[in-house]
Amino acid sequence: MIPANPERMLIQEVAPRDGLQIEPTWVPSADKIKLIDGLSQLGFSRIEAGSFVSPKAIPALRDGDEVFRGIQRAPGIVYVALIPNLKGAERALAAGADELNMVLSASQSHNLANMRMRREQSLAGFGDIVQAVQGQAVSLNATVATAFGCPFEGHIDEDQVLRLLDAYLELGVQGVTLADTTGMANPRQVERLVRRCLERLPAAMLTLHFHNTRGLGLCNVLAAFEAGARRFDAALGGLGGCPFAPGASGNICTEDLVNLCAETGIATGIDLEGLLALSRGLPALLGHEVPGQLAKAGRNCDLHPLPAGLPA
Ligand code: COA
Ligand code: ZN
Repeated sequence: MIPANPERMLIQEVAPRDGLQIEPTWVPSADKIKLIDGLSQLGFSRIEAGSFVSPKAIPALRDGDEVFRGIQRAPGIVYVALIPNLKGAERALAAGADELNMVLSASQSHNLANMRMRREQSLAGFGDIVQAVQGQAVSLNATVATAFGCPFEGHIDEDQVLRLLDAYLELGVQGVTLADTTGMANPRQVERLVRRCLERLPAAMLTLHFHNTRGLGLCNVLAAFEAGARRFDAALGGLGGCPFAPGASGNICTEDLVNLCAETGIATGIDLEGLLALSRGLPALLGHEVPGQLAKAGRNCDLHPLPAGLPA
C-alpha cells in the first residue's frame, strides 16, 4: 500500500559547483549551461549552479557570471551560488543568483587552506554580507565545512560545529549546511550531530552535504534521515571534491541517492530516468569515468534475458 503521506527528501543538485570545481579539464561555459539546463528539467527545486570565488583559487569555475546569465531559469528552482566573501556576494548578486551559500570550515586549518583566512575573519565577512544583501530578493545559506572531520586536524569537536551553527542563526540566515568535506563522517556520529542540530533549528533549514570518499556516503544519508534531516546535497555522477582538502573525492551521487529513495519509498520528485541519461553523458563531457554506480549497473527493474539452454 502506498502511504497517503510518503516520506519526502529534498535533494539539492551540486554537480555544477562542487562537481566541476575539481575537474582538471576546462568545461566551456556553454557546456556548463547545457548541464544546468538539463538538470533544471528533472524536478529539482534547488541547484547550486556555480561559485563566485577567486579565479586563482578555482579556475574551473571562473566563468560563474556567464553561466548564471546564460542558464534558462525554470520556474520554482532556486539557483544557488557559493561565495567566500563580500566580493563574491556582489558578483553573485549581479549575475542573478537566488541564494548565496557562504562557507567556512569548522577546522581552522582547512579554513586557512581553503579560504586563506581564519574562521573569525570568514565569520566577520559573513556579517558584512548579511548587511549588504538586506532588502534584496536573495536568501542566504551558510555552510560549516569539515563538520565531521578535517584532513589536517582529524577529529572535529561537535561543540565547535554547534557554536558556528549558533553564530549562523544569529546572523539570520535562512539555511545551514553541515558538510563532510572529505568523507570522514560515520553514521553514528551523523545521527548524534543531526539530532543536536535539530534541537536548534527546524529540519527545513538544515542540509547535509556528504562525500563518498570512504564509501559511507549513503549510509550517512540514511542515518541523518532517521535522525530527522530531510535535505541533502548530491552531485550527478558522484562528481566533486574540494581542491584544498587532500584526498577529497566525489559527493554522494544524485542518481544513486534517488534510486535509494525510490527503492525505500522516500519521495524525491526527481526523474530518475532523466538523471541517468544526463549522467551517462558525463564521461564524454569530462573525458573520464565517473564514480556513480547506478548509471553503470542500471536500475533493479532493468532486467536481463535468461541465458539460452537452461534446464527446464
Ligand atoms: N571573486 C573574484 N575575485 C576575488 C574574489 C571573489 N570572490 N575574492 C577575492 N578576489 C580577488 C581579489 O580581487 C584579488 O585580485 P587581484 O590579485 O587581481 O588584486 C585576489 O583575488 C586576491 O584577493 P584576496 O582578498 O587577497 O584573496 P586571497 O588570495 O587571500 O584568497 C579567497 C581568499 C577567499 C578569495 C580565496 O581563497 C577563495 O576564493 N577561496 C575559495 C576556495 C573554494 O572555492 N573552495 C571550494 C569550495 S568550499
Ligand atoms: Zn563538497
